[in-house]
Amino acid sequence: MATARGSRYLLKIGRWRRSFGIAPQFRALATLVPGVSHVDNKSDFLGKRPHRRHPGILQLSCVRLPQALADAAQLLLLEGAMPNMEKQVQVLTNYLWSRHLPVEPEELQRRAVLLEKKILENADSCQMEKHQEEVLRALRRTTYHWQKLSYNEGLSLVYMAARLDGGFAAVSRAFHEIQARLPEFQPQTLMDFGSGTGSVTWAAHSTWGQSLREYMCVDSSAAMLELAEKLLKGGSGSGMPCVPGVFFRQFLPVSPKVQFDVVVAAFSLSELPSKADRTDVVQTLWRKTGRFLVLVENGTKAGHSLLMDARDLVLNGKEKSPLDPRPGFVFAPNKKPKEEKLSLVILARGSPEEATRWPRITQPVLRRPRHVHCHLCCPDGRMQHAVITARRHGRDLYRCARVSSWGDLLPVITPSELPPSPAQDAPES
Ligand SMILES: C[S@@+](CC[C@H](N)C(=O)[O-])C[C@H]1O[C@@H](n2cnc3c(N)ncnc32)[C@H](O)[C@@H]1O
Repeated sequence: MATARGSRYLLKIGRWRRSFGIAPQFRALATLVPGVSHVDNKSDFLGKRPHRRHPGILQLSCVRLPQALADAAQLLLLEGAMPNMEKQVQVLTNYLWSRHLPVEPEELQRRAVLLEKKILENADSCQMEKHQEEVLRALRRTTYHWQKLSYNEGLSLVYMAARLDGGFAAVSRAFHEIQARLPEFQPQTLMDFGSGTGSVTWAAHSTWGQSLREYMCVDSSAAMLELAEKLLKGGSGSGMPCVPGVFFRQFLPVSPKVQFDVVVAAFSLSELPSKADRTDVVQTLWRKTGRFLVLVENGTKAGHSLLMDARDLVLNGKEKSPLDPRPGFVFAPNKKPKEEKLSLVILARGSPEEATRWPRITQPVLRRPRHVHCHLCCPDGRMQHAVITARRHGRDLYRCARVSSWGDLLPVITPSELPPSPAQDAPES
């Protein structure tokens, strides 16, 4: 319905513009998009670039582990010589991807009451104790049993073999988004909560190695910290680290005053046993965020859901007297690339106007003969389904849409950002 209405509205604008003789003046000044509006013509955004490299494209087609990291991991796996490594990797991978969120105590209580009611409806009232046992048995049978993983030496090595490349790729994608949209952003400090193998440090070094001078890795597992340090030193306990300025801690730094330019939690919030723990950690991480808080989880329902909770927590921030009063905004929403399905939210401090406010493509782009379907999430949160053609919307926008993918930004200004147009009132002829 939104599409049909949107198309009609924009057709009206099209006719109005033609009747007033308004013609495109720049290469990027395009016509109209159903349900969307204009190609972003604030600047000549294409410059001399071809359409296939328009600035909304944020895909990373292929991510490679740095050679030094790949070599160090290989060495550690050979040295570790764990039996059935491949099998263990498969088991852990399956476990992590099928993991649900832990059931909260209130939810458990609610389910118990419902079950009890059901059982009591058809039961003999003098056998109360038996009913309670029945409720407990039914609860056990039907409730997901979340388990905390204990990252000892063995599991840390298995985790490295299973997730080093995927984790590195997912975090690189997030960093690439910031770098592509804000090339002038040169972070100096980074904190990684639940740093595990240190893949975040390696990805950050690949992206902003020139400016970063301090990487604070926080992980409760001593074995993981040791492994991350070895990976940095080429697989050995001694030697010079490949990335300078990396520090390891088992606990979050206590001083609330120290902030980091970039704070990351990659696949770590899902390791916390309750919503209360996650709330606590997200609030602490946001307090420590100078500019960007990057949260990455698996591209699963559980991963997505906990990132949405974290986003809402930051955006609705209820801290009474925050040390940093600048509000937060969503810099990048979720996206699920084909190769490594991930959920991602990047929260930033400051004014949203600083970041490009183009709509994001939220589903695979359907390229059809002479038209393209794009599902868009607009900066004001509205979802739109735009069907873009060259004839109706101009060659520039059509070609940009055709080469864009799920997760990219489409360089158009959405109607809510435009001043009210007389065309909105024009009668349809
Ligand atoms: C799934 S691993 C993620 C590792 C890494 N971030 C990555 O991208 O591969 C989760 C890590 O979080 C750590 N962790 C779990 N609970 C933690 C806590 N309360 N404080 C700090 N680290 C924690 C675990 O020890 C583990 O190394």
